Amino acid sequence: MNTQEQGVEFDENALDPSHILEVGFGFWGSKVLLTAVELEVFTKLDDKSMTGEELGKLLDLHPRGIFDFFDALVALGFLYRDGDGSEGRYRNTPATAKFLNKHQPSYIGGVLEMASDRLFRFWGDLSSGLKTGKPQNEVKHSQKSMFDVLYEDTSKLEQFIAAMSGLSRGNFQVFAEKFDFSKYQTLCDVGGASGLLSRLVAKQHPHMQCMTFDLPQVENIAKRWIEQEELSDRIQVISGDFFTDSLPQADVITMGLILHDWNLEKKKHLIRLAYEALPENGAFVAIENLIDDARRENIFGLLMSLNMLIECGDGFDFTGADFWSWCQEAGFRSYEVLHLAGPCSAAIAYK
Ligand SMILES: C[S@@+](CC[C@H](N)C(=O)[O-])C[C@H]1O[C@@H](n2cnc3c(N)ncnc32)[C@H](O)[C@@H]1O
Repeated sequence: MNTQEQGVEFDENALDPSHILEVGFGFWGSKVLLTAVELEVFTKLDDKSMTGEELGKLLDLHPRGIFDFFDALVALGFLYRDGDGSEGRYRNTPATAKFLNKHQPSYIGGVLEMASDRLFRFWGDLSSGLKTGKPQNEVKHSQKSMFDVLYEDTSKLEQFIAAMSGLSRGNFQVFAEKFDFSKYQTLCDVGGASGLLSRLVAKQHPHMQCMTFDLPQVENIAKRWIEQEELSDRIQVISGDFFTDSLPQADVITMGLILHDWNLEKKKHLIRLAYEALPENGAFVAIENLIDDARRENIFGLLMSLNMLIECGDGFDFTGADFWSWCQEAGFRSYEVLHLAGPCSAAIAYK
């Protein structure tokens, strides 16, 4: 029987529940990957190959689960296996060797470590977040903000900053390559964490002087990275609070995954601060998982916004049209979107 649904004709007998089940059980595959990162499967394998028994012993795993676990990773595309049965030897794929081996500078597993350690549990309370509008993370049982709670525990702070680097590195690299810096001399990255965006821009554009602005607790982490990459003469680390201080003057003000942490009033405050710190023709850049204007397509952006409910309560992700309307209110004169990688874009407003 043919029926109309949202203007699309479909055959009811041909309907297939597999997508429903695939998404419904998506957490199985997700938890297998997160656990493999947590147990350092990809780091321990490094450039070697091992039988299931050898790898299981190295990871201190009970024999019951080792073949199911490693073969699930093979089937999910995160390990290769040469040969079958107990003689089969497991090794990294090119992608896991590059991105999930801690010995590589391109390691992005920090964000998955944090997802395994914190977010996986907190998402178990999504329905409570939806009913109350309140965060479901560590903040749930205190009156403090997410950053206060994370930053009073050094290991959580380090984990969070490493996680942000893993999530943002690819997008910042594309931004450093694609954005036309030839008209500008100075950049201030607000909420710059480890200084990653400034480091990538400084390396790509030798004429740029950069500043990375963040809370005082983050200062030493940023300095450590900047010194390690010998960029101290190109990047200044500035400590401050963007709810009590003004921003340093710069030709380009960037905010990577900052606006989505906050409610509308605070978003508008940050946009106004950026406007005040820019010269005429200066650029304000928000790097975010910008939701498509009709809110139908960018699944990661929409789920990220739910993640902001879990983490921050009233923080939310937004569309390009939302961003532009707030920027117009602040006085910006034009706007464009630069697509970066996957679901992420740079929303750019010019003063
Ligand atoms: C979600 S992280 C984004 C980090 C980085 N921009 C990125 O995209 O990977 C938010 C950053 O904002 C910083 N931050 C939070 N509250 C702040 C405040 N009141 N003033 C300055 N920075 C703040 C945090 O320390 C953290 O580094």
